[in-house]
Amino acid sequence: MNRREFLQAVAASAAAYFPSGIMAGTPPEQRQLTRVIPTSGERIPAVGMGTYISFDADRDPARKRRLREVLRIFHAAGGRLIDSSPMYASAEQVFGELSSDLNVNPDFFVATKVWTRGAAAGREQMRTSLRKLGREKIELMQIHNLLDWRAHYPTLRRWKSEGRFRYIGVTHYTTGAFAELERVLKAEAFDFVQLPYSVATREAERRLLPFCKDRGIGVIVNRPYEGGDLFRMVRGRALPEFARELDCDSFGQLFLKFLLAHPAVTCVIPATSKPRHMRDNMGAGLGRLPDRRQRERIAALLFSGAQSS
Ligand SMILES: NC(=O)c1ccc[n+]([C@@H]2O[C@H](COP(=O)([O-])OP(=O)(O)OC[C@H]3O[C@@H](n4cnc5c(N)ncnc54)[C@H](OP(=O)(O)O)[C@@H]3O)[C@@H](O)[C@H]2O)c1
Repeated sequence: MNRREFLQAVAASAAAYFPSGIMAGTPPEQRQLTRVIPTSGERIPAVGMGTYISFDADRDPARKRRLREVLRIFHAAGGRLIDSSPMYASAEQVFGELSSDLNVNPDFFVATKVWTRGAAAGREQMRTSLRKLGREKIELMQIHNLLDWRAHYPTLRRWKSEGRFRYIGVTHYTTGAFAELERVLKAEAFDFVQLPYSVATREAERRLLPFCKDRGIGVIVNRPYEGGDLFRMVRGRALPEFARELDCDSFGQLFLKFLLAHPAVTCVIPATSKPRHMRDNMGAGLGRLPDRRQRERIAALLFSGAQSS
């Protein structure tokens, strides 16, 4: 065991004594809220990062330099799970380059997707993704929007057993797909589902989240800010006083903590192209989480025009 592996093992065993995953008196990156992946018991930081639009920057050097800083902040603050897809144009490539340039590529919990029809095309696409991400193995491969999932599932199972993926999953971005997601999760052995859930779109609370909690399936929340719409809904409003009780200093942190407080949620993956927004997002992994009553107060913020305190 080398020094880094030793330190990781110490951190992991210490984390096991703290049910919430929050440890006082430790550096920020170790205080990040962590969650257990139900099928393995492995802990991962609960605030991750998406790459849709934000990381499609191969032709824009200035944007790429800013993203290098975004990724550096994410890593330094203890963020680990990044989510991408071949659908996101150059995002996989840009993450691969920047993470290698920062010399931290192996530290990440890399999740990407297969998004094509046909098993052979899927295998080809997944090989390309691994190359772009700078990896021979990644942590999580997901079937994007369930596209041709029956064709890809056998490859995902086989590559998982061969060690190319540690986990496999399915994703969707619409609540209309929840019934089908549930059918697929009942039929086959997936470790993760990625689904849309936000303070404004709570459909997942009705069936799918309790189902995942029951069945021991990890949940990754996509579009936690509704693609940025949530910020437009509270524009010009003062942050409510009760945000302090939750160690939040922004609406973004309130919106993410609302999700992180749900017991079925393993990880949230907000996307940003701005260093200051990444700092803000990582703040959601620190401090107190809302209880049931406080969650409803956060939800009510969207519908009360007046300042709330
Ligand atoms: N079917 C699927 O599998 C699927 C579908 C949708 C999404 N996803 C995944 O989920 C991730 C997240 O969803 P998303 O990117 O669609 O939307 P999102 O994370 O809900 O919102 C992103 C938007 O929020 C803004 N933002 C981020 N942090 C902020 C902050 N602290 N303060 C103010 N604004 C902030 C970003 O703008 P700035 O760049 O200006 O910060 C961006 O416009 C995606 O990137 C992708 O990885 C998967």
